[in-house]
Formats: sequence, C-alpha cells, structure tokens
Amino acid sequence: MAAYEYETHDYDVVVVGAGGAGLRATLGMAEQGLRTACVTKVFPTRSHTVAAQGGIAASLSNMGPDHWQWHMYDTVKGSDWLGDTDAMEYLAREAPKAVYELEHYGVPFSRTEEGKIYQRPFGGHTTEFGEGPPVQRTCAAADRTGHAILHTLYGQSLKNNAEFYIEYFAIDLIMSDDGACTGVVCWKLDDGTMHVFNAKMVVLATGGYGRAYFSATSAHTCTGDGGGMVARAGLPLQDMEFVQFHPTGIYGSGCLITEGARGEGGYLTNSEGERFMERYAPNYKDLAPRDYVSRSMTMEIREGRGVGPNGDHIHLNLSHLPAEALNLRLPGISESAKIFAGVDVTKEPIPVLPTVHYNMGGIPTNYWGEVLNPQKDDPHAVVPGLMAVGEAGCASVHGANRLGSNSLIDLVVFGRAAAIRAGKVVDPETAVPDTNTAQVDKAFDRFDTLRHADGDTPTADLRLEMQKTMQEDAAVFRTSKTLADGVNKMQAIAAKVGDLKVTDRSLIWNSDLMETLELTNLMPNALATIAGAEARKESRGAHAHEDFTTRDDENWRVHTIARVADATIDLSYRPIIEDPLTSETDGGISIKKIAPKERTF
Ligand code: FUM
Repeated sequence: MAAYEYETHDYDVVVVGAGGAGLRATLGMAEQGLRTACVTKVFPTRSHTVAAQGGIAASLSNMGPDHWQWHMYDTVKGSDWLGDTDAMEYLAREAPKAVYELEHYGVPFSRTEEGKIYQRPFGGHTTEFGEGPPVQRTCAAADRTGHAILHTLYGQSLKNNAEFYIEYFAIDLIMSDDGACTGVVCWKLDDGTMHVFNAKMVVLATGGYGRAYFSATSAHTCTGDGGGMVARAGLPLQDMEFVQFHPTGIYGSGCLITEGARGEGGYLTNSEGERFMERYAPNYKDLAPRDYVSRSMTMEIREGRGVGPNGDHIHLNLSHLPAEALNLRLPGISESAKIFAGVDVTKEPIPVLPTVHYNMGGIPTNYWGEVLNPQKDDPHAVVPGLMAVGEAGCASVHGANRLGSNSLIDLVVFGRAAAIRAGKVVDPETAVPDTNTAQVDKAFDRFDTLRHADGDTPTADLRLEMQKTMQEDAAVFRTSKTLADGVNKMQAIAAKVGDLKVTDRSLIWNSDLMETLELTNLMPNALATIAGAEARKESRGAHAHEDFTTRDDENWRVHTIARVADATIDLSYRPIIEDPLTSETDGGISIKKIAPKERTF
C-alpha cells in the first residue's frame, strides 16, 4: 500500500472546478453561509469558460418580442426530443432571472442604445414556437462573454468568503460504504502535498472531455476529470454518444470562431462561392442549429465543394460587415482569425471546419444537479452527497444537440439550482463525515501506480492514439463499420493503460504525471462515447448514423446509461422525462406544442 501523508480539510460543501458552473455554485453556497471550498486544477479565471465567446441565452425581449416558452420550445427541438422536459422548462424559465443576477453581480454586458443588455441571434433560437423569424436572445459582452462572467463570479465568490484551493488536482472521490459521496482526495500541484477534503456535499463542475478528440475548441484542461472519477466510483455516465461539432473551428488550429459571427450577419460559402445553407435550411439558413450546419458543411466537402488546395474546408465570410461593427461586436474573433489563420476579416473569409466543441452527455443528474445512479426499479435514484453541474453533468437539458448560448445559461442556472438545493439538504449544524481511510488508501494506490508506471507506452503516444481513433470513428457522420472498429480500437487502447510509461517521478509540478491522470479520466469518457454511439441504431441530433438515417422515437427516445470499468462498458437505458414542471393551466407550455415531430429548419 502506498503511504502518503495528507492534510485533512472539513467543509459543508466542496466544489471541484472553477468554471462558470463551479463558480456559480460556489457563490450560491457561500451566499447562504455554507462553509464552501472550491478546488480547481487551474486558476479560476483560466477555466475553459473564459473561452466562451458569443453569449448566454435568456428571453429578455430586449431586442424584440420573446417568451420563455419559445426558448423552451427551441431547446426541446434543438435536443431532437431527447432532453428531459422538466430540466428544459427549468432552464428557459429561470434564464432571465439568472442573467439579471449576473448583471447585478457586475457582468459588463454590451448595451443597446437604451442601456439594456445587448442580445444577438444564435442558431436554432426562434420566435412563435419555431414558426416565426430568428430571435435576438443571446446576451453578449462583445465576443468575450464567458471571460466577463468568470471574472465577475470569481470576485463575488471571494467577497462571500468562499475558500479557494488553486492548482489542486482531484484524484478520486471518497465514497462511504453505503454509497454516499463524502469527499475528494487531491494532489497540490505546486508543492506535491496531498489533501483530503471531507464534505457533506461534493459538487463536480469539472467541464467536458473535448480532449478525447484530436481537434477540439476545448482547452487542453478539458479532460473529463469528473466523469473519470465517477466511473471509477462505479457510477454511470449518460448520453455520451452525443458530441457537438461546432461548425466554425478555425481550419488547422481548431480555435473557436463564435456562432455570433453568423448571428451578426456572417455566412458560409463553398468553393463555388455559394451560400449553401440556403439549400439545407431554407428558413434559418446559417442560423440553423449546429448539428445541422456541421453536417451540411461536411456534405459540401464530401461532394467536392470544399475550399482550399485540398478542398477540405469551408469559408466564413464577414468582410461585407462594417469594420466598426466587427470591431465593436466581434473584436476577439477578428484577432483570433489574424493570429491563427493569418486572415484580415475585413477583407478575406476565414477558413473553418466543424470541430469538437461540447459534450451533451455527462454525469446523469436531476435538474437540481443531484447525481443519479439509475436502477431498474428507480431510474431517478439519487447518490447522496454528490452533485454535478455544467458540461460535466447531464441534467439532461441539451439531449442530442445543444443550442449555441444554451451552455453559459446552463452553467449559471444549474450552478445556482445546485446551491438552492444544497441550502435545503446540507445542514450546517451537523458534523462533517469522517474520512473513509480505505477509500483514501485506494486513491493513493492508484496515484502511486501511475507515478511509478514503467511500461513501454508514453502517455502522449497513448493519448494521441485515442484522439485519432475518436476523431476518425466517432465523427460528424458515423457508420456501423466505423463505430464497431472504433469500439474495438478504443478497448485495445484502454487496455494499454497498464503499459504506460511515466518518466518524471517527482511530486512537484509533474506535468507528466498530471497528464497521465488526465488520460485515465479521458479514457472512460471516450469508451462510453464510442460504445454508446455503436449501440444507438438511429440518427438523432449530433449522432448522424449513415446506416440508420432516421430518428426512431419508438425504440430510441431513451437515455443511454454507460458504466465503464477499465476497458469494459456496460450499457443500459432509462426513459426520458416527458412531463414539464407545470401544466398549461398553471401557465406552463402546452404538451402538444412540444410533442415530437420532424425537425426541419
Ligand atoms: O459560438 C459560440 O460563441 C459558442 C457558444 C456556445 O457554445 O454556446
């Protein structure tokens, strides 16, 4: 058994991760007087939310008529009818309140002439239950909205006495013998010390796992750490086969060019200079949802109408827009285009390609953020002491496809919901659970095995193998063959974790070891993704299966539940939640309005 000394910390709540969801949860907990720690592997304002550009959706009606029910309808349709209806209602209803709170906390939103929060159009956001024109629903701080939100929430959390443990890497959850979560084991990266956090509630806000793929808009830190810890604790992941490709990653580097660029009037063209989205989505054109646009771009390239010497990408045109508007509304992407594509957006198009951007799947939760461990007789069984919010969680509000700008609102609405719920279920007067030392020893054993790993496969090599396999075999379009090959390859890759080679054995700033721990987190996320995709014999949202091209509501309007242990994956399914929170007579949406139908734009 590996012996590591450790320091013990006791809190009411420990939040793991300091992106938008983690900070909103931390702030909400601390505001209520709960003793709250936020543990994060990067400095809070370097969390990946800082890269969120275009904005945050809420039906404020600042630029024209809007309604929370229209937002809910768009979210339901955007999800291709796989989201949980209660969560989608909660998101759309609470969104305006959550955005006004951000405004009052100090987020420097862009403004209209009248001083209201500026809102821009984004894909899939419409009026009149999808019958009217696009709506300006996405509240923006130029094209640096995530940056603005993150800085504000960090400042507010400090003001409310939340305690931050910065550059602490969470190794594993501590579970009690009766299945509750009671804490988390961490490694402090800058001095090599070990820390055990005991808590009445642990909130996983660890973000997505975009780095399971070769080309992603996600930061290198997006390694699915929460999903990895949950899988090792014997808990499941949900709907992992639904991976969003953002239509406009910069060709080559994968850097994000916000959908706000099309919201502000930009458009895509093929090698013939044609605005091809008019053919695929006659009503909403370039403002169709992301799965739709990414597939259309891929079809154009496949059919020989891609741009560039190899005909392998697409052009995003902004040069027709006034230079002052680009400077005011899209300064960040104008700079990114210059740096990463050598393009002056006032004169030339930006070369773009669909790039992995977001994971609709994650750790299953209810709309309060409580983690679920679905059982046959109880599909909504809650894991005591454990929550998951933001991209790490799956509420499930995005179903098979997320609408742009519904991510930032998800972070703050569900971060806030977790805090509201914790205020009810966490009693500051009770004792913090004792350390379950057997679990701590187990975490240190795993850590120590990886620290001294002396096989033949360097971490970077195995990671690259995984990333290339996921990129090729679980892509925008999938086939039975690519998916079956992908499952076999990924299982073989996962089996090689036992052959990893770590060269640095130290405990201080050991990026070799940290990346190895991250790889062991990426692995179960990737396995669940490819196996879930292979099993799902239909096309829905971001899962475009070329051998099963239609949506099959009779057999597949269900959530995939994946339990991963080493290289084995066990799949089961649970029903989606069809009922909204409120009935039509109580001011809710008509069930008829959100009934499944063909999804066209
Ligand atoms: O395109 C964007 O600005 C990204 C926003 C989002 O993913 O919600």
